[in-house]
Amino acid sequence: MRKSVVVLLGVIVSIVLFVGVGILKATDVPDEVSIYADTIKTHKKGPVNLTHKKHNVDYKIACTECHHVYEGGKNVYKEGDPVQKCEACHDAVKSVGKQKKLMLAFHGNCQGCHKDLKKAAKKTGPTTKCNDCHAKKK
Ligand code: HEC
Ligand code: HEC
Ligand code: HEC
Ligand code: HEC
Repeated sequence: MRKSVVVLLGVIVSIVLFVGVGILKATDVPDEVSIYADTIKTHKKGPVNLTHKKHNVDYKIACTECHHVYEGGKNVYKEGDPVQKCEACHDAVKSVGKQKKLMLAFHGNCQGCHKDLKKAAKKTGPTTKCNDCHAKKK
């Protein structure tokens, strides 16, 4: 009687762990992300699709080039840490010191890298053409 209860509990715990780990893995590095911040009330432009996994795997860009958590001026984000949306910290309307407002944070990150690569005459992504990143507005 006792034993079967223990076995049953063990099975339940394994299922919970398995499902839990499965969920974590699934959200680890999404293939694509559609960027369209909720905190921006009136979008002037359409959403931006980021080939998320391709940037990481094919273009060999580290998570920390895009994801950060600053502690004492240093980025302490590590692969596997939970990820917050950029809008969790970057305000939609105003910059707070080096923590620029959301649009500048995105443009600074995306175009910042693309422009640096262009200057270095390397393969790169869109630097100026809006519609190479932004989809048509619905
Ligand atoms: C080229 C930039 C870039 C790289 C490289 C990158 N990410 Fe992201 N990632 C983003 C952006 C942008 C978002 C969407 C953020 C938002 O919507 O505010 C995102 C979203 C996520 C999300 C949340 C997805 C969701 O559904 O909300 C996770 C988890 C994540 N990234 C993990 C990673 C990990 C782990 C790595 C490295 C293995 C990585 N990312 C590499 C830019 C990047
Ligand atoms: C946990 C809060 C937080 C999140 C989430 C966050 N940022 Fe930041 N970000 C900051 C802070 C704080 C700074 C200022 C850092 C400093 O003092 O140099 C900053 C600076 C920046 C800068 C300028 C400096 C640099 O690192 O190049 C860019 C660009 C940027 N963020 C883009 C993004 C993008 C894109 C995302 C989402 C993928 C994001 N941030 C998510 C807090 C955050
Ligand atoms: C640290 C550098 C880096 C950052 C940050 C970065 N990219 Fe890129 N991106 C690249 C490189 C490198 C390529 C092209 C490489 C190639 O063609 O071999 C590229 C290509 C692209 C392309 C065209 C090809 C494709 O895969 O769709 C788009 C669109 C793009 N990036 C959008 C974005 C957006 C949106 C962001 C910000 C959320 C971003 N990138 C951030 C380096 C970066
Ligand atoms: C390298 C990719 C890239 C390019 C090129 C680019 N943007 Fe963006 N932009 C983004 C991303 C990513 C966001 C965040 C999307 C969101 O949350 O709506 C953004 C946000 C914005 C926003 C704030 C959100 C909104 O819809 O009002 C405006 C305005 C904007 N971009 C205008 C432009 C204009 C104008 C150009 C061309 C001169 C341009 N962008 C080129 C990536 C890009």
